[in-house]
Amino acid sequence: MSLIKMNIAVIGTGYVGLSTGVCLAEIGHQVNGIDVDEAKINELLQGSSPIYEPELEPLLQKNMKKGNLFFTTSLEIGLKDAEIIILAVGTPQHEDGSVDLSYLFGAAKDLAPHLKNKSIVVIKSTVPVGTNHQVKKLIEDHLPHPIAFDMISNPEFLRQGSAISDTLHPDRIIIGSLESSAASKVEAMYQPLHASIIHTSIESAEMIKYASNAFLATKISFINQIANLCESVGADVEDVAMGMGMDKRIGATFLQAGIGYGGSCFPKDTKALLHMAKQNGHHFSQLNETIAINDTQPLLLVKKAVNRFTDLKGKKIALLGLSFKPETDDMREAPSIKIAQKLLELGTVVTAYDPIAIDRAKQVLGNSIHYANSVWEALKDADALFLLTEWGEFKRIDVTRVTGLMKQPIIFDGRNCFDTDKIEACEKIEYYPVGKKAILKEGFY
Ligand code: UGA
Repeated sequence: MSLIKMNIAVIGTGYVGLSTGVCLAEIGHQVNGIDVDEAKINELLQGSSPIYEPELEPLLQKNMKKGNLFFTTSLEIGLKDAEIIILAVGTPQHEDGSVDLSYLFGAAKDLAPHLKNKSIVVIKSTVPVGTNHQVKKLIEDHLPHPIAFDMISNPEFLRQGSAISDTLHPDRIIIGSLESSAASKVEAMYQPLHASIIHTSIESAEMIKYASNAFLATKISFINQIANLCESVGADVEDVAMGMGMDKRIGATFLQAGIGYGGSCFPKDTKALLHMAKQNGHHFSQLNETIAINDTQPLLLVKKAVNRFTDLKGKKIALLGLSFKPETDDMREAPSIKIAQKLLELGTVVTAYDPIAIDRAKQVLGNSIHYANSVWEALKDADALFLLTEWGEFKRIDVTRVTGLMKQPIIFDGRNCFDTDKIEACEKIEYYPVGKKAILKEGFY
């Protein structure tokens, strides 16, 4: 089957909207990206990506050059020929864990006057069950005159840091619909990806997204609990995870123990699902535990340092990595924030280095900590190193250099990033990983 070129509008040019728009243009569609943020649209029109995401900028420039991809702040221009309108605006969270749908509802009201007969509105933003129906009603209420249009729930599973590859090679595509011809059209839009397509009801599609993220978050909290127990009983969590993961029913991914999950998705979506359950009279105790474990996991690394030094006051601590995961500059809910704040509370002097996220980190941590321009600058005269994000650059560090630079080469590795054989071979380094035996060098300190 050859590609049927479609006119697609994507409203919202954040991680999800921008990656989706660029990839749909890449597979041959005509795409208009629309956003209310004028500065962002101007940046995009210059061919520059407002977010750090590997592979995104070259594809953006390539497709703009080809004339497949255009950006505008105007709904009138952006929706002019749109057959499919993808809503990918942010859905942040309220204090009580519920989802703030104001951007989505705002976009729905605003697009209504520009909607063409038989067009399809697709919600890609992560939204609670029932939202697609609410949005449909809202659009209907704001149509200048009645027209026929369809709603599709098409949740997104891309990860930051690998958004382009995840979009172009998805494990599955979920299409939740009321009406089969609209679902077939959305399926045809994705045809060049040759992905497995699952058709469901709208409610099931909305739930699949929350259930997937909550399950992955639970997998992480579970392995973190196993890691904490491994430390007490002398087992090695990496061996345990490998042994578990080879069972196909369990699967090897998302069993990396560490300092907990962060980002703009798992923390928010687990709380939203919990809220949804509560509203429907369900006590989702397991999810409560997933969240509670994740809240305390980052601080266990600090606790190890307190046990090691007794008093951390005045100690110089080097943080390597600030973003919530590698290959992104995103600091939202990054475990590094909690760790830095706790270390400051205990009177330490903190110097941090991250290859990409320093500017964003400054917006969160301000001048409460110092920022270094390199690993080596951060480590100079430090009493301890906290490894918080497993950037490739850190994995390649020559650990023998660490000993000469730091006051005391003591490493608290929150991501099990370093090779324990190399640490073992290095006579002075004291090493505290997660869920594995510490490497102590008796008599040195
Ligand atoms: C997550 C999901 O993985 C995507 O499928 C989903 O589309 C996205 O949320 C979303 O809802 O938009 P993302 O938050 O970008 O993607 O990043 P992940 O790779 O899932 O990592 C989330 C956090 O879990 C990171 O802090 C990471 O360090 C942590 N993590 C991940 C672990 O601690 N251990 C692991 O084994 C895996």
